[in-house]
Amino acid sequence: MEKVLELINEDLQKVEEKFENRLSSRVPLITKVAKHLVMGGGKRFRPSLLLLSARLCGYRGEDHISLAGVVEFIHTATLLHDDVIDNAEVRRGSASANTLWGNEASVLVGDFLFSRSFAMMVEVGDLKILQTLASATTALAEGETMELVKTADLSITEEENMELIINKTAILISAAARIGAILGKAPLEVEEALANYGLQVGIAFQLVDDCLDYIGERETLGKEIGSDLKEGKITLPLIHTLRQCTAYEKKEIQEVVLGDEFSYDGLRKVLSFIDRYKGIEYTFAKAQRCIDEGKKSLWTLPPSPEREALFEMADYVVKRKV
Ligand code: FPP
Ligand code: MG
Repeated sequence: MEKVLELINEDLQKVEEKFENRLSSRVPLITKVAKHLVMGGGKRFRPSLLLLSARLCGYRGEDHISLAGVVEFIHTATLLHDDVIDNAEVRRGSASANTLWGNEASVLVGDFLFSRSFAMMVEVGDLKILQTLASATTALAEGETMELVKTADLSITEEENMELIINKTAILISAAARIGAILGKAPLEVEEALANYGLQVGIAFQLVDDCLDYIGERETLGKEIGSDLKEGKITLPLIHTLRQCTAYEKKEIQEVVLGDEFSYDGLRKVLSFIDRYKGIEYTFAKAQRCIDEGKKSLWTLPPSPEREALFEMADYVVKRKV
């Protein structure tokens, strides 16, 4: 990601300083838990998109730093809540906050980060940006609830999975790209092009996440492998497999998903079916099409180092191992 870092390294440092300043609370437990996750080695994917998009649109102020902080705080708040929902033990290579401090503290510190992010966006005071972030966070909660409703439902369709992915992941990533355009007072076509780029890249991001949950390496990924299956999340590699497999194989998958005890033998069995029906290849191919589509929306913009860096970020999404 050299092109990306070359352009926004300095801004990213300022974003890190912003985190440090805005994480503090008069309640020491909040600062401790929030720092554990925010400073715990995230990829800063959403802030980077926002910073690049703002640069691409010629923005020259300082609000992009705060807003990059805002999107990362919102993302971190959702991870704190998500790890409680998913009973996750590991996040970013360390014990998750819920493992270290319990579910109650995780939910509350998530609430704190979420509220702090609202304070920060109000300080910027742009109504259109507030609207963008308000609808993105509503979508996040809706997407996560859709996922909850579909837990262990083997009849979930690819379309339903897509709707869920768009809401729980892609809309916030799209909002990050759109906010850069709003800051730079870009014409509506440019704003929409960047928002669509973010949406497509965001869909691909989650599709790759769902593949890595099956085929990633625990150490590199910094979280458990097989946790989607363990939690009854039926993601695209398995949806594709369920569409193709025999009734007997489907019954075997059902036993693993609905069984009381999760076992690595069960995971291995499901993986062998996913392998047989090329569920991972199918999902990666779909992610690649989204990446191509996202890059295509930027073709109408004049060539620039920022546009190149956004292409590089899109390519990174399908290449990443972490
Ligand atoms: C990670 O998905 C989770 C999300 C992208 C969204 C989580 C959203 C919420 C908990 C609700 C909204 C909350 C607020 C504060 C607005 P994953 O479980 O597939 O990824 P993982 O493998 O990294 O855990
Ligand atoms: Mg999770």
